[in-house]
Amino acid sequence: MTASTASGSPYGAVTDQGAATNIAWHEATVDRAARAQQRGHRSAILWFTGLSGSGKSTLANAVNAELFQRGLATYVLDGDNIRHGLCNDLGFSDADRVENIRRIGEVSRLFLDAGVIVLTAFVSPFRADRDRARGLVADGDFIEIHCAADLGVCEGRDPKGLYAKARAGVIKDFTGISSPYEVPEAPELRVDTGALSLEASVAAVIAQLEQNGIVVPAA
Ligand code: ADX
Repeated sequence: MTASTASGSPYGAVTDQGAATNIAWHEATVDRAARAQQRGHRSAILWFTGLSGSGKSTLANAVNAELFQRGLATYVLDGDNIRHGLCNDLGFSDADRVENIRRIGEVSRLFLDAGVIVLTAFVSPFRADRDRARGLVADGDFIEIHCAADLGVCEGRDPKGLYAKARAGVIKDFTGISSPYEVPEAPELRVDTGALSLEASVAAVIAQLEQNGIVVPAA
């Protein structure tokens, strides 16, 4: 899928999409470039991925606080929270995880278009699903951040007691135990959230965003 076409539709000039037929793309009057100009910064998708307990939500929220404090428009989409609403019809089978990440990729694309820096914190264990989300947007708009705390560290933390339940067989299809996690091969950034302090992890992400021209270095 291309990130945009002459019509402005990221889906191409088609009138049938998925289960919907006879639909046409309507061009927005206010576009992303206009929003970026008004806000004084470009938007981006910061895609945090990693095992449960690897610190994705903690890091995404801390980066979000730092960007918000700098006056940028930001929003966090968090796996546990989104599964309370938008994705509360989905469980943890492979197919449901694929659909979960498909929806989050699409929602993230909307935030990007709305001029917002969106930070997503989902296990997103499958490489193909992360790559599909990346493919919805243009090069440079998708920053993949691997929260790389390893299984031993995450299981040792076990903040929600889920690893213990997974080991006991009470929870099925648990990522890292009974369901796979495909490590990102070439993320924009890998953060060793098993060893680094939260402050150091935030600094690494901010440095990456400065390098990508998404935020300007603080004066
Ligand atoms: S994803 O695989 O579809 O990306 P998502 O990030 O939405 O997962 O949800 C993961 C969160 O749900 C974990 O942080 C954990 O708290 C909880 N959870 C409950 N059951 C599972 C499971 N079987 N595998 C992984 N996480 C689970």
